[in-house]
Amino acid sequence: MGILAPSILSADFSNLSQQIRLTEMAGADWIHCDVMDGQFVPNLTFGPVVVEAARKVTRLPIDVHLMIKNPDNLIEEFFKAGADFISVHFEEVVHLNRTVKRIKDFGIKAGVAINPSTPVSSLENIAEYIDLLLIMTVNPGFGGQSFISNSFKKITEAAELRKKLNANFLIEVDGGINKETISRVRDAGCDVFVAGSAIFHSENIPAETAALKNLIK
Ligand code: DX5
Ligand code: ZN
Repeated sequence: MGILAPSILSADFSNLSQQIRLTEMAGADWIHCDVMDGQFVPNLTFGPVVVEAARKVTRLPIDVHLMIKNPDNLIEEFFKAGADFISVHFEEVVHLNRTVKRIKDFGIKAGVAINPSTPVSSLENIAEYIDLLLIMTVNPGFGGQSFISNSFKKITEAAELRKKLNANFLIEVDGGINKETISRVRDAGCDVFVAGSAIFHSENIPAETAALKNLIK
């Protein structure tokens, strides 16, 4: 059974609690929070205060994706805000093993995200310690972009790496996930599916949520 993680990046922030409830009632499994600092990526979104707000309206696991420089500086704040998962970018963290351990020491789950041009093999020496491997299937920074087609092989490579290491991380994809791409992504071996604009820019958030959920059953 696939895990559907709607990204609130594309939600109507003037009505965030209602948007989260609409997708949750229709079967969303996690809530994905795209944190951007305008430095690591060319966009600026939100900080722990929005995660705290989401925490108040949902009991679903909150999956925080830190697209920021120096993520170590904010791990504790996002933990206190209510994050259940915190993913940092491989490209940004020098002492990744220490950062992953720090996240897990708070008793929450640790993920590592890789950009489209970063090979899965880069995670060979951290993969056995992480709970989530987040494969960016668009260039990070904005919702509504098109799925980068060579991502399929990265999903398969991640599944092969997990098998080789006898690891147990979940494979998550983020970017360009919609009714047209989700089945092939599932077949490639994905476990967690982040979808932002497909859900929150649709005519009917619950119907779109249910339709995507149905495709990853
Ligand atoms: C990019 C963001 C997006 C977002 C999903 O930095 O991380 O990938 O979550 O966006 P959609 O589903 O609209 O492509
Ligand atoms: Zn994300």
